[in-house]
Amino acid sequence: MAMTKPMLSLLAHLHAALLLLSGAGAAVYDVTRYGARPDGVTDSTLPFLRAWADACRSPRQATVLVPPGMFLLGSATFTGPCATHAVTFSIAGTLVAPTGYGWDATTGRWITFESVEGLTVSGGVLDGRGSSLWSCKRQQQQQPHVHCPTGASSLTISNSRDVVVDGTRSTNSELFHMVVLQSHGVTLQQVSVDAPEDSPNTDGIHIHMSSNVAVSNADIRTGDDCVSIGPGNSNLWIERVSCGPGHGISIGSLGQQQGMAVEVVRNVTVKTTWFTGTTNGFRIKTWGTSKRGLVSGITFVDSTMIGVHNPIIIDQNYCPGKKSCSDRSSGIKISQVRYIDIRGWSMTPVAVTFNCSRSNPCSGISLQNVRLMYEGMRLAKSSCRNVNGRTTGLVVPPSCL
Ligand SMILES: *[C@@H]1O[C@H](CO)[C@@H](O)[C@H](O)[C@H]1NC(C)=O
Ligand SMILES: *[C@@H]1O[C@H](CO)[C@@H](O)[C@H](O)[C@H]1NC(C)=O
Repeated sequence: MAMTKPMLSLLAHLHAALLLLSGAGAAVYDVTRYGARPDGVTDSTLPFLRAWADACRSPRQATVLVPPGMFLLGSATFTGPCATHAVTFSIAGTLVAPTGYGWDATTGRWITFESVEGLTVSGGVLDGRGSSLWSCKRQQQQQPHVHCPTGASSLTISNSRDVVVDGTRSTNSELFHMVVLQSHGVTLQQVSVDAPEDSPNTDGIHIHMSSNVAVSNADIRTGDDCVSIGPGNSNLWIERVSCGPGHGISIGSLGQQQGMAVEVVRNVTVKTTWFTGTTNGFRIKTWGTSKRGLVSGITFVDSTMIGVHNPIIIDQNYCPGKKSCSDRSSGIKISQVRYIDIRGWSMTPVAVTFNCSRSNPCSGISLQNVRLMYEGMRLAKSSCRNVNGRTTGLVVPPSCL
């Protein structure tokens, strides 16, 4: 629906009125009062930062209000700590990134919340306008001399605690859509992500060095992992996620030569997921390097997979380009991984792959009530290397554990 200006301003006022009523005493900082313009072309970065600064300074519960309309926002970091632990960033409109790419050259991020405790980000559409950078990256694949920047992740929650992101949609990010970095107690609920299947590096949700992170009711369609879980994470709960197109839900890649000395991922539950036409379902991936680490206490439960290339896969021999992997036997130990109630069909004949490390075999792998066919009704296969574990209940294809 095309909205006229009076309609937009009526909506804005209604929205503000509702917020005032529901916010019971919250101070409201409307970005348009600071000069932000809902026209999609006026750079509103400074007004947004100023509205944030006032909200963050407020001694009582505060709301930054973004009314309906389209706001052009450059790279912006909303920094805490704030005076209260109850700041809301309420977005009714759409935030659009600058056109072209390279505008984010220093940070690699578009919108960041940094060092905030007690924050709710609600609603809104974040449009990263990634397509020109993706074209550059595609061209680079054909012509390696072409230079393209890495790009900017759309929304990053960094060094923060007790954060809720609720009902926010991220579309066409240049890089990762939503990132949780070095944070504790972050909930992403009712979020959605969409980008084309062939958009490079557009992970839906990336979680890194964080704990007690929950994702629920997420709808993700993108060109890379729907959810990717990097090193240093513990106590994650991921529930009711639909994924596809995309590369599935991945733990890893762990064990790249650079980065942390020891890489650990512990206590992750992924429950009730739907995969449609994805490259992977549940994947655990480590580089074939001697970097030490541990992946343990992982449960994948209740999943439907429709036309997934690798429904269940552990690959400890990841080494693209075969350059940086010194010995090709991963130093990351993978243990206590359970797959329970998984059904559907694989696009490839091998539906279950456990390709573990010679020096660190996978242990305590269990399959319970798994029924995966090949292309609809054909019998699929399992493949095992350096793995031990057990099965219970019906397991199809027959397990090689
Ligand atoms: C595992 O993580 C969940 C949250 O996802 C938490 O409730 C539970 O207490 C954790 N278990 C252990 C043993 O830390
Ligand atoms: C397992 O990894 C090794 C090393 O990269 C590779 O040669 C082999 O093909 C893989 N096996 C399967 C079944 O994926």
